[in-house]
Amino acid sequence: MSSQLNLYEHLADELGALIAGRIFAPGDRLPSIRHLAQQKRLSISTVMQALRLLEDRGLIDAKPQAGFYVRHRARTLSCITSSHCPKEPTYVGINNLLMRVLQANDSLGVVQLGSAWPPDEILPVKRIQRAVNTVTRRNPDLLTRVSCADMNEPNFVRQITRRAIDWGRLDADEIVVTSSCTEAISLCVRAVAKPGDTIAIESPTYFVLLQLIESLGMKALEIPTDPKTGPSIDALELAMQQGLVQACLLVPNANNPLGSIMPEANKKRLAALLSQHDIPLVEDDIYGDLCFTNERPWPVKAYDTTGNVLLCSSFSKAATPAARVGYVVAGKYAQQVAFMKTVSSGATGHFFQAVLADFIGSSSYDNQIRKMRRVLAQRIAQMSDAVSKSFPSECSVAEPQGGFVLWIQLPEQVDALALHRPAIEQRIAFMPGPMFSASGKFGNYMRLNCGNAWSVEIEKAVQTLGTLVHRFSDRPSGRIALN
Ligand SMILES: Cc1ncc(COP(=O)(O)O)c(C=O)c1O
Repeated sequence: MSSQLNLYEHLADELGALIAGRIFAPGDRLPSIRHLAQQKRLSISTVMQALRLLEDRGLIDAKPQAGFYVRHRARTLSCITSSHCPKEPTYVGINNLLMRVLQANDSLGVVQLGSAWPPDEILPVKRIQRAVNTVTRRNPDLLTRVSCADMNEPNFVRQITRRAIDWGRLDADEIVVTSSCTEAISLCVRAVAKPGDTIAIESPTYFVLLQLIESLGMKALEIPTDPKTGPSIDALELAMQQGLVQACLLVPNANNPLGSIMPEANKKRLAALLSQHDIPLVEDDIYGDLCFTNERPWPVKAYDTTGNVLLCSSFSKAATPAARVGYVVAGKYAQQVAFMKTVSSGATGHFFQAVLADFIGSSSYDNQIRKMRRVLAQRIAQMSDAVSKSFPSECSVAEPQGGFVLWIQLPEQVDALALHRPAIEQRIAFMPGPMFSASGKFGNYMRLNCGNAWSVEIEKAVQTLGTLVHRFSDRPSGRIALN
């Protein structure tokens, strides 16, 4: 990847590294703007831009008349060692309990720290309305057309291909347009594996992936996953060598719930392992455009030379979840995936494919994702700060590098599932940790949605959660059994 950073981005990265290394610790004042400008031989406005960027990244705060200070943060989750070996594959039985949690989270008047949907206020509603009007005027036939033979809208496929140009040349024949990322993943898993097969997943992972494995009568193998760098490639290699897995299902860019990004070297190594063992990877890249890195991280698909990677995504997070348009770049499994799509739901509506093509093919989409990255990084930092103020000091938080959720480790004795009930009684929704594991792990973890604009209501809800966590920390643990 090319790396043509601006001067201010260089300075922000340099100061960010000093903060990460605790040369400037939480609460420390940074050198003054004038001092930095003189020392680095930069203009005052360049230094100001760098400091604003660090503020956006949630690393520092401006105090009027006093300067810039390093933010107080909650403890961060410690890294795993890559020598962890995967445990046994397990059948998944999470659906019943998950549905109860989701139903409770959905009740009226609840502060929504549960589901990870982007709030309307941050979505490009007006721009989508304009695209709807344009397509209605120019192509009214799309309001009525359905075709079984030609399922993809050509302009939508063209825009997907154009957006991937930085990292690869996609063949239009590899692409199957779907009704959401969820459908793309479901078609792919059904195309590459059968009941009884084992699927390697991150641990923790997005609960719908677990529900999917459960619904298909497959087994999950939970791969130890680092909060920063994602799944252990050593563990994946071991599992492949031992013939334990028939397919992988991973979210390498801004995993939900960790927000981890797999380093490029790991992606390259994983792609080589998949080729060597002829194992398919269903890659969920839905948060790829919403990573906080200077450059958009590449998918594993960028390093795939044998067609073993099936890249799935949609525009539900950065454009509108209501369009229900996603896609898969299916590699050597394209025919099987297209067949699955035909028998599952037929073509995805061409009208909304054309609407999304109008949007993502314009500069408005780039502006939209730039805005979302900045705003979401800030909201995550605000949530992380609030947690550090209200939760017990033994708690640790992940440092998400994209998306809009925060994964929190609570004190060992806190049962997040038991804590969910009093939280709902106090009208606060969150996702308990065990919903992200096939084997009931993460009993003392929770995931908070940080997508909503910061408000007094959210601040109070986090304080109340903190009080509950303190209360549960003083109790002997009594975990609720899964299913
Ligand atoms: C990792 C991940 N994949 C997929 C989805 C769902 O995407 P879609 O609405 O396009 O089905 C989500 C939504 O939360 C998600 O977090």
